[in-house]
Amino acid sequence: MTKNIAILGGSGFVGSELCRRLTAEGHKIRVLSRKLASATAISDLPNLTLHHCPEYSVSELTQATQSCDVLINLIGILNEKGRDGSGFDAAHYTITQNALQACISNAIPRMLQLSALHADVDGPSHYLRSKGKAEALLNNCHDIDITIFKPSVIFGPGDSFLNRFADLLRFTPGVFPLACGNARFAPVYVGDVVTAMANSLEQIDSYGNSYELCGPNIYTLKQLVELTGEFSGHPRWVISLPPTLSKLQAMLLELVPGKPMSMDNFRSLSLDSICGECTPCQTSLESIAPTYLRK
Ligand SMILES: NC(=O)c1ccc[n+]([C@@H]2O[C@H](COP(=O)([O-])OP(=O)(O)OC[C@H]3O[C@@H](n4cnc5c(N)ncnc54)[C@H](OP(=O)(O)O)[C@@H]3O)[C@@H](O)[C@H]2O)c1
Repeated sequence: MTKNIAILGGSGFVGSELCRRLTAEGHKIRVLSRKLASATAISDLPNLTLHHCPEYSVSELTQATQSCDVLINLIGILNEKGRDGSGFDAAHYTITQNALQACISNAIPRMLQLSALHADVDGPSHYLRSKGKAEALLNNCHDIDITIFKPSVIFGPGDSFLNRFADLLRFTPGVFPLACGNARFAPVYVGDVVTAMANSLEQIDSYGNSYELCGPNIYTLKQLVELTGEFSGHPRWVISLPPTLSKLQAMLLELVPGKPMSMDNFRSLSLDSICGECTPCQTSLESIAPTYLRK
């Protein structure tokens, strides 16, 4: 059945893929965005409209989501401007709170939230704690049918994880020193993530549930960087730094504009980003990543 779906963060990497999937399935999509110019990848999709929400405030969200059947929140940041966690709280917790309020005001019965594996109010980093606070808020709401998705790192054309390493490797001659090289991940394909989200719209048994999303294989960060070098045509000798040097690298990179790595990322990496008992998604890194990393 065709639904009116509001998507927060629909202009991003996962959001663009989700918009393509949902419009292809015939749904009417409203993408809410702080900067309409950042949504060029999706602006030509049929049955999709863009709505300017500079603050993602309750009033903006309530206005923009009138008569919607579903609200999907994809908003997320990996780094904040400061270091005290307030930027993470604003992006992950406050906007979720505002979105929930908009759902209640507009009687929107269904909400999907894209969170992160190991999000927890007691997690080791501001990123994981703020995502965990948002989950706790949603888990306490019983007026709306909510489903939460908790992926490991997501790969696919336009990802910021493998593409960032590919760019770094291209400009690093010979040896690549890597912080936290032993951290483990189960990368999941963006196509599998959006399939899980799109399918859940009609799955009553997903209401009130959370799902971890992992790919079929587990890799250390060092293996992932080595594979990225191989796939992108810039193989390098990757050296995994010991914990003290990893921390030092994170402290220094936090000072570089754009924060290629931060102490908060370092703390998140203290937990392996791998799933517990979930059934893994099927698409392998090896079947997709070479197609977009080799430019
Ligand atoms: N990519 C991964 O590997 C991965 C892994 C685990 C979990 N996740 C989660 O999946 C979701 C989507 O990730 P993604 O990779 O698609 O992210 P993305 O490409 O960075 O897109 C996220 C969107 O959030 C909005 N946004 C960014 N900073 C914001 C801020 N400070 N305040 C308000 N809105 C802001 C932006 O939308 P506008 O500029 O249009 O407003 C942006 O398009 C996020 O919640 C992320 O935490 C991603």
